Amino acid sequence: MDIDWSKLTFSYLPTACHIEYHWKDGAWDKGELKTEPYVTLSIAAECLHYGQEAFEGLKAYRGEDGKIRVFRMEMNARRLMNSAYRTCMAPVPEALFCKAVERVVKANIDYVPPYGTGATLYIRPLLFGSSPQIGVAPADEYTFIVLVTPVGAYYKGGLQAVKACIVDEYDRAAPHGTGMVKLAGNYAASLLPHEKAKEAGYAVDLYLDPAQHKYIEEFGSSNFLAITKDGKYVTPASPSVLPSVTNNGLQQVAKDLGIPVEVRPIDFEAEIESFAEVAACGTAVVITPVSEIVRLSTGKHYVLPTGDGCGPVFQKLYDAYTAIQWGKAPDTHGWLKVIA
Ligand SMILES: Cc1ncc(COP(=O)(O)O)c(C=O)c1O
Repeated sequence: MDIDWSKLTFSYLPTACHIEYHWKDGAWDKGELKTEPYVTLSIAAECLHYGQEAFEGLKAYRGEDGKIRVFRMEMNARRLMNSAYRTCMAPVPEALFCKAVERVVKANIDYVPPYGTGATLYIRPLLFGSSPQIGVAPADEYTFIVLVTPVGAYYKGGLQAVKACIVDEYDRAAPHGTGMVKLAGNYAASLLPHEKAKEAGYAVDLYLDPAQHKYIEEFGSSNFLAITKDGKYVTPASPSVLPSVTNNGLQQVAKDLGIPVEVRPIDFEAEIESFAEVAACGTAVVITPVSEIVRLSTGKHYVLPTGDGCGPVFQKLYDAYTAIQWGKAPDTHGWLKVIA
């Protein structure tokens, strides 16, 4: 194994093995570690035809003390259960999910990047309907896989801001649809608007609420956060936004630091110019500051006061949150599981 940890990006690198479980006749099997990074599926498998597939994303960190810590896996387990419920899939019990993560991380211990490189082991659980199904109906059998792959530090220097755009032509979620769960189909639907945003020169796409295009929802693959001029942390309350583990944790860290938190509808046009800082948040990057938002349908630019860097409040939250993840600050909320 010869990996240049400092050159890793966010892309797939095969590892020693993944773990695979099967559900049939009402029960999960014991799961098996598999060295070949392939699955054998019927060409009539449900997931290939009707998209009965959900996934998760979380990370393991190697600390300065050499210990490997997985961050808040119970939150991902619960979110996958919600995704399973919404798509009539067999749920993966929380204990089985956590056991699967522990087994696969242990079996790939050499792929957890060394401390100091900023790189981490990305953990990607997948759940899908795997039995043949030609009529539209839930599958009779399910497969649960957890694969891992080392990924690089996103920021090699300090936190750098990106420009975002609103693509009013498309929505990522429908009212009463599936925006609040992590289904593969949501991402398939977001690929075209994301490509259009990139073509227009914007790294991230921001969505407004699908019913009125008035309230802020979230970015294509991250939640929306803002700091008001009077120092409050605000993030949208919406039934069609994905509940982000990072947003949840940052809210807790904000409260711990005495920063008031508001989860409420945010009227884009009425409020965007009143924010001191805006950012996107998610597991892959934690916090991505946003320097400017352009509404492509009107051509109007909304420039944030923080420029190309990161505002002071998000920097403070980023530092406090990542210190917990790397095992450098006390884990006062019990977020970390040390893998022996
Ligand atoms: C649509 C969407 N929103 C938000 C997030 C951030 O969620 P988390 O913080 O759990 O990674 C993600 C990434 O998983 C996402 O795809």
